[in-house]
Amino acid sequence: MEVVIRSTPDEVASTVADIVEHYVRGGPTTLGLATGSSPLGTYRELVRRHRHDGLDFSSARAFLLDEYVGLPKDHEQSYSSVIRSEFVDRVNIDPDRVDYLDGQAEDLAREAARYDAAIAAAGGVDVQLLGIGTNGHLGFNEPGSALTSRTRVKTLTEQTRLDNARFFGRVDDVPRHVLTQGLGTIGEAGHLVLVAAGEGKADVVAAAVEGPLTAFCPASVIQLHRHTTVVLDEAAAHHL
Ligand code: GLP
Repeated sequence: MEVVIRSTPDEVASTVADIVEHYVRGGPTTLGLATGSSPLGTYRELVRRHRHDGLDFSSARAFLLDEYVGLPKDHEQSYSSVIRSEFVDRVNIDPDRVDYLDGQAEDLAREAARYDAAIAAAGGVDVQLLGIGTNGHLGFNEPGSALTSRTRVKTLTEQTRLDNARFFGRVDDVPRHVLTQGLGTIGEAGHLVLVAAGEGKADVVAAAVEGPLTAFCPASVIQLHRHTTVVLDEAAAHHL
């Protein structure tokens, strides 16, 4: 595992954007996109490189990591809306080659199976962006998630609903259920890039990077992966 510590949020974003750019310039590639606030600077930097340096996403495809259950696709907090407005609609990736989990699917188990099959049919994800929840979740794999889990429905912990209430205004509006790629699914990506910033992530980053491998800290599964890059600002690296 490689841990890169940068001084400012802009440097964090630039380092992660360099990694993504490497794959995009290398030919047709499959990106794994994540939401949450941590990768937003990276998307802004990639959009800037697209507009100013001609970074070309036309032969890329992408899969989103997770989604709330029950939110309409056009709800401003659905992850498909967020990733469209932050990234997909602002670069020249073919929108038909960006796949989302459908949180309104009638049969959620079937939707989850469809997603894993679609990722496999695409030849897998080459580079997967990841944030980390304050409780150690990856995607929405909450503590206790099996380290080999596949894409499926999960119930959010109270902690995660409280953490994400800032996006919804009030905690009661945060959905209780989600669809998320499993830890096993995520681990099949060729390269994992975990990004975290701020003192509030320092404990959980230390647990994920240096603590025991345990389902109680789902992000610790990155320790098993053959190619992981963790990109942190100094505050998030504080307890390493
Ligand atoms: C959310 C998302 C995760 C994200 C995490 C951290 O609930 N499902 O994919 O990594 O929480 O979010 P943030 O980057 O805003 O701290």
